[in-house]
Amino acid sequence: MAGLFSESTLEQIRAASDIVDVIGSYIPLKKAGANFTALCPFHKEKSPSFNVNASRQIFHCFGCHKGGDVFTFVKDYENISFVEAVKRLADRAHIPLETEKDGAGAETRHLKDTLLQIHEQITHRWQNALENDAAGQIARDYLAKRGVSAEAVKLFRLGYAPDAWDDTVNWAKSKNFDIADVEKAGLVIRKEETDRYYDRFRGRLMFPICDEQGRVIGFSGRVLSGDEKTAKYVNSPETPIFTKSKVFFGLDKSKRAILDAGHAIVCEGQLDLIACYMADVKNIVAPQGTAFTSDHARIIKRYVNEVVLCFDSDNAGQNAAVRSLDSLLASGLAVRVAVVPAPHDPDSFIKENGGSAFVALVQGAKGFFDYYLDRLLAQNDASTDKGRQTVLHSMGEALHKTGNAVTVDSFAQKTALRLGVNPESVRAEFKKIGRAGFRPAPSAGTEEAEESESVEPEALPTLHETWLLKYLLLHDELVPWAVENLAPEWIEHGTLRAIVEWRFRAATEGNWRGVAAMLDAFESDTARQLITQAATNEKAVPNPAIQIADVATRLRNLHIEAHRATLRQQVQNPAIDDAARAALLREDHELRVLKQAPIPPPQV
Ligand code: CTP
Ligand code: MN
Repeated sequence: MAGLFSESTLEQIRAASDIVDVIGSYIPLKKAGANFTALCPFHKEKSPSFNVNASRQIFHCFGCHKGGDVFTFVKDYENISFVEAVKRLADRAHIPLETEKDGAGAETRHLKDTLLQIHEQITHRWQNALENDAAGQIARDYLAKRGVSAEAVKLFRLGYAPDAWDDTVNWAKSKNFDIADVEKAGLVIRKEETDRYYDRFRGRLMFPICDEQGRVIGFSGRVLSGDEKTAKYVNSPETPIFTKSKVFFGLDKSKRAILDAGHAIVCEGQLDLIACYMADVKNIVAPQGTAFTSDHARIIKRYVNEVVLCFDSDNAGQNAAVRSLDSLLASGLAVRVAVVPAPHDPDSFIKENGGSAFVALVQGAKGFFDYYLDRLLAQNDASTDKGRQTVLHSMGEALHKTGNAVTVDSFAQKTALRLGVNPESVRAEFKKIGRAGFRPAPSAGTEEAEESESVEPEALPTLHETWLLKYLLLHDELVPWAVENLAPEWIEHGTLRAIVEWRFRAATEGNWRGVAAMLDAFESDTARQLITQAATNEKAVPNPAIQIADVATRLRNLHIEAHRATLRQQVQNPAIDDAARAALLREDHELRVLKQAPIPPPQV
């Protein structure tokens, strides 16, 4: 699985990446005995069945059976490749990778660290200015006018950037930050052909933008004075730590609620999102503006399969909903659209009608194509030939992007009904549009679906087999005994047998390095789940030495009985001669004797 990286590098990164620290930086963990528990980030649940085992450095969920080591967690949680997960953890632990030449990687890491520090500290500075500076009054007044609570100000770490050209520049000096780094952070701008700098954010209400782990990586600043000449919002430029098209405002705070709700509401702006939050609607993100990218869709897909678009009621907002469709459908997300009545956006709607009215709006959100048909009929005059053509054509084109014949057909019906025309002619028209060439982008899901169809799922191991693996992975001291006394062929379950054989080999070859390292040798989900489940101890088992001998005896005897059953069948075969029959009976007798032989438990 590792490939690119040497064993020793992986070990080094693993040693420096305590699984409790790493998982704890993504989701809240609660101590429970020797382990930690949490609500599982990979499936929806109300009581925690997600387990992190500190001593073995693995996690396992008893609900959805996902499990693995620290690399697996980062890979699955962030929905990135194994290689990428290794890089991230190496980065976090400041461990240079072989693939990074001449220390260039170390330099990038160092720069990113510096930029993160600058962001964190200027956030403090601006929070402070909002709370305490006399000049911050304008921002405090504005927040009061918009009805943003003190609690929300604190939660979202809102701030005020003083109205000056050199406030940030001077702040950077006082903090001994290299001004060139502050420029790379996007907070100051260099005057052309000079070595002088000035502040990017002046006299603005500041919204920190966080990555999914809650680290500030950029800012959006809203104008406060009624100055028409400057942009309403000024945002951080692209920096080594910030790419606007790949970040959602609010996701670091809303991911749990999104998972619980089973869908994510997507609104346009920061203030919309904050208003929803204050109304206790927390499963919400904002792409900050109307550009909803395929990266955004991919991020949401990590959590849920459905989005409810809730853009502004103005044309820009509604057009954006339609434009988002390509990326949304390509990612395989189900899309509904909640229409906020004009002239509102979610923020003003909630202010006027209250949070529960907004919840009702979201609950009643129509599926995308129902919404789209409504919109097309509102925009075009269906009593004219031209109007009908436009509706038909636009519907047909959008529908074909789903690549789903059933959807296309059922909306052919609905469209015909609304236009008052014959369904057959709409079907024919849609077919023409389909042939004209749109091929839906293959969704990430299709390949997997095909794969899982062709592979017969393996049956579950028996209870005894499961226990055997548990003893072997929880009690290293029993392994040498097991190698001597237990034959892997007694295990029926193929994957579990392979794991036991691997564990035995590690013991005899003397290179056992723990469960977490073992996981890297197994690629199949079944194997990884069996391992993490076995190695996660709910409660201590009394007398494991006695127990493993007992389990071994049972597995052996089951194996013997199965063998004897085939022998008996052969004996009854009239085609075999007496000598062969005698040999079979002898073998059966030996097996019966063998079955009586006790397996002495290990002395530990
Ligand atoms: N936006 C932006 N740059 C702009 C205008 C808007 O980045 N010049 C982004 C902001 O993230 C903003 C979102 O687009 O929150 C939605 O824009 P808009 O509807 O104009 O702003 P509102 O969120 O309604 O802001 P406000 O309520 O403060 O007027
Ligand atoms: Mn708006």
